[in-house]
Amino acid sequence: MRRSDDAGTEEDAMTEPGPLLRLEKIDKNFGPVHALTNVDLDVPAGQVTVLAGDNGAGKSVLIKCIAGIHRPDAGRIIWEGRPVDLRSPRDAAALGIETVYQDLALCDNLDIVQNMFLGRERVRHGILDEEQMEIAARDTLRSLAVTTVQSVRQPVASLSGGQRQSVAIAKSVLWNSKLVIMDEPTAALGVAQTEVVLELIRRLADRGLAVIVISHNMNDVFRVADRIAVLTLGRMVAVRPVAELDRKIVVELMTSGRSDRLAEAGGRS
Ligand SMILES: Nc1ncnc2c1ncn2[C@@H]1O[C@H](COP(=O)(O)OP(=O)(O)OP(=O)(O)O)[C@@H](O)[C@H]1O
Ligand SMILES: [Mg+2]
Repeated sequence: MRRSDDAGTEEDAMTEPGPLLRLEKIDKNFGPVHALTNVDLDVPAGQVTVLAGDNGAGKSVLIKCIAGIHRPDAGRIIWEGRPVDLRSPRDAAALGIETVYQDLALCDNLDIVQNMFLGRERVRHGILDEEQMEIAARDTLRSLAVTTVQSVRQPVASLSGGQRQSVAIAKSVLWNSKLVIMDEPTAALGVAQTEVVLELIRRLADRGLAVIVISHNMNDVFRVADRIAVLTLGRMVAVRPVAELDRKIVVELMTSGRSDRLAEAGGRS
C-alpha cells in the first residue's frame, strides 16, 4: 500500500512553499458569454477549498479549466510553481489532478476493482494481476476507513450513492493524486451518506492532498471547508479562511457579490 500521510508536513517545515495550484487572471468566454473574468485562486495542499456560487456563476467552467476540459482564453495556470498548459484531461491526470463527478466517474457494469484500475490495470506476465489489484483496492478503501462496502467484487451499480462517491474518491488516493476536485459530491446523498463523504474529504486533506469541492449546501460548506472561494457571475469576489466567514456573509457574496459585514471585518476581497 502506498502511503501519503506524510505529504506536506516535510514541506511545511521548509520556507513557505507556494500553493500547489495557482490560477492567475483566468478568462473563459463562450461566444458572448463571459463565463470567467479575471479569476485568481490559490489552492494549497492539505486544505479543502470550497468553491461556492449561485447557478451559472462559473464553478463548473472553472474546475473544467483545471481538469483540462476547457482551455482558458487568457490567464495562467501555475502548478507547483510552474506555468502549465492543460490541453486535455490526460495532461491534468499526468500532473496528479483527479476530478470526481457526481455520476460520470464510475462504470456501473464493472466491479469496484475494475473501476479503480480502469485504464491503468496492473499486468503480470502478460495477464491482469487480479489478486494484486484486489488487494490494493481493499487496502485503499480500508485506509480511508470505508467500511460499508462488503466486497470489492461488487458491481458499482449495486452501491449506494455515498459508496459510489467513496469508491471514486478512493480511486484518486490509489493513484497518488495531488489535487482532487469534486463537483457537488453530496448533491444526491442522504444525511448519513453525506456525513461519510464529508469525512472522507476531510481525510484526503489531512493526508496532504489539495481538495476543491463545489457546493451549494451551506451546512456542507461550513462542515468541510478550510477556505471558501465565492464566484459571482464569473468573478471571484472573495477567497477567505473559513474562520473569517459565516453563512450570512457567504450567501450575501453569492447573491450580490459583496458583503458589508465582510468589508467591516477589514479583509481584502
Ligand atoms: N459549453 C458551454 N457553452 C456555452 N456556455 C457555457 C458552456 N458551459 C458553461 N456555459 C455558461 O457559462 C456560465 C457558467 O456556467 P457553469 O456551468 O460554470 O455554472 P455553475 O456555477 O457550475 O452553475 P451550477 O451551480 O448551476 O452548476 C453559464 O452562464 C453557462 O451558461
Ligand atoms: Mg456546475
